[in-house]
Amino acid sequence: MHTQQSPSPSPDRRLSVLARHLEPSSVAVEGHSNHSIVGAPTSGNDGKQSVFSHIVRAPEDPILGVTVAYNKDTSPVKLNLGVGAYRTEEGKPLVLNVVRQAEQLLVNDRSRIKEYLPITGLADFNKLSAKLILGADSPAIQENRVTTVQCLSGTGSLRVGGEFLAQHYHQRTIYIPQPTWGNHTKIFALAGLSVKSYRYYDPATRGLHFQGLLEDLGSAPSGAIVLLHACAHNPTGVDPTKDQWEQIRRLMRSKGLLPFFDSAYQGFASGSLDTDAQSVRMFVADGGEVLVAQSYAKNMGLYGERVGALSIVCRNADVTSRVESQLKLVIRPMYSNPPIHGASIVATILKDRNLYHEWTLELKAMADRIIRMRQQLFDALRAKGTPGDWSHIIKQIGMFTFTGLNKEQVAFMTKEYHIYMTSDGRISMAGLSSRTVPHLTDAIHAAVTRGR
Ligand SMILES: Cc1ncc(COP(=O)(O)O)c(C=O)c1O
Repeated sequence: MHTQQSPSPSPDRRLSVLARHLEPSSVAVEGHSNHSIVGAPTSGNDGKQSVFSHIVRAPEDPILGVTVAYNKDTSPVKLNLGVGAYRTEEGKPLVLNVVRQAEQLLVNDRSRIKEYLPITGLADFNKLSAKLILGADSPAIQENRVTTVQCLSGTGSLRVGGEFLAQHYHQRTIYIPQPTWGNHTKIFALAGLSVKSYRYYDPATRGLHFQGLLEDLGSAPSGAIVLLHACAHNPTGVDPTKDQWEQIRRLMRSKGLLPFFDSAYQGFASGSLDTDAQSVRMFVADGGEVLVAQSYAKNMGLYGERVGALSIVCRNADVTSRVESQLKLVIRPMYSNPPIHGASIVATILKDRNLYHEWTLELKAMADRIIRMRQQLFDALRAKGTPGDWSHIIKQIGMFTFTGLNKEQVAFMTKEYHIYMTSDGRISMAGLSSRTVPHLTDAIHAAVTRGR
C-alpha cells in the first residue's frame, strides 16, 4: 500500500489559516487614509512587477488536458477518446429527450421562482435521489436513517463528504483503489484526509486484483474510510462480481471500515438502475453506516448542470439529524447553497411515472450503444489479427476500456493517427462509433506491431 503524495493541508493548518484571516490585524489599520493608495503594491501606476510574477504555470489537468490538445489538432480524422462524456453514433453530444421535456415543463410553469434553495438543496430531489440509489423500499429510508444533501455533481458530493469526515470522523485515513479516477486523491487530500491506496487492478490479467484488495483492506487500520466505485470502475472498467462484493462487505464490516461509495455511473454500466446500485444496497442492507456520492452527469447527461447528491446512512434517526446539521455547516461557507435548475430537472423526471420510464429507456439505449462499441472494436481487432488477447474489451464494463496500451503507444497513436486518450491507455467507449472503429483498430494495430 502506498501513501499518495499530496499537497494536503492538515485540518490543523487549515484552521490556523482561517484563524489568521479572522485576526483583527487583517482588517483595516486605524488611521490608514486614502492617500496611501498612491504607489501601493497592487496599484498599476508604480512601474513595479505583478505581485503574482513568481507564479509558475500549472500543468493541464491530465484528463481535461486531452481535450485541450484535441481542440488544437486540425486533422479531419481526429478522434477524442479522452473525455468521459457520451457521444451519439454521429459523434455528437446528447441531450436526453426526457431532459428536454422536463425543461419545457419547468419553463411553462409560471409559478416557479428563482429564490435561493436551502443549504441542503431541493427537498424533493434529495428524497428521490436517496430512493434511486438505495431502492424505493429501503428500510433505511423508512426508518429516517438517511440524510441526503444536494451537491455540485459527483465531485462536489465527494468533497462535501470528505470535508465532513475530516472534521467529524475519528479516522482521517481514506483508502482509494489503485488506480482510480484522477481527481479522487486531490479531492480527499484537500478535504483534509490522509490518502492511501489499496490494490485493485492486475495488469497481468487485466482484471480485478482480488487477493491484493483483500490483503490491503485486511491490513488497513480499524475504522479507516474506504472509497469504492459503486459500478463501472473508472479507469479500469473492472468491477467485483456479486460474490466478491459480498466478501468485501464482510471483511470491511468485520474490521469496522467505513464505506464511501462513488456512484457516478448508475444505469450507465449495465443499462439497469437497480443492477448498478447492487453493491451499495448490499452494504446498506446489513444495517451499517455508509456514505454515497451520486452524480447525474452521465446517466441523465446533465454534465454541465452539476447535479449530484451526498447521502449518509446512519444507525438511527437521531444521529442522522445531527449529521445533517453538521453537513450544513460544511456547505454554507463553501458555496452557501446549490443551484436550482439541474436539480429541478432531475426531480421532475424522477417523480413522474412516464418521464421516469422514458428515462430508463434512453439510459439503456446509451449503455447498449457502449456495449455494442466494445463488441465491434473487439471483433475488428480479431479480424485484423492484431497480436494480443483483447477479450478484456468485452469483459470490462461502463464508459471506459483500460486497453493495456502503454504511454509510448498512446503517444504514437496521437501523433500518427490523431487519436486522443489519457496516457494510461484508457479510452472512452462512449466517444467511439461504428464509423470510427476502423480508424481506432488501424491505430491500435500499428501501435502494437510497431518495431516487431
Ligand atoms: C469515478 C468518478 N467519480 C466522480 C466523477 C465526477 O463527475 P461529476 O463531478 O461530473 O459528476 C467522475 C467523472 O468522470 C467519475 O468518473
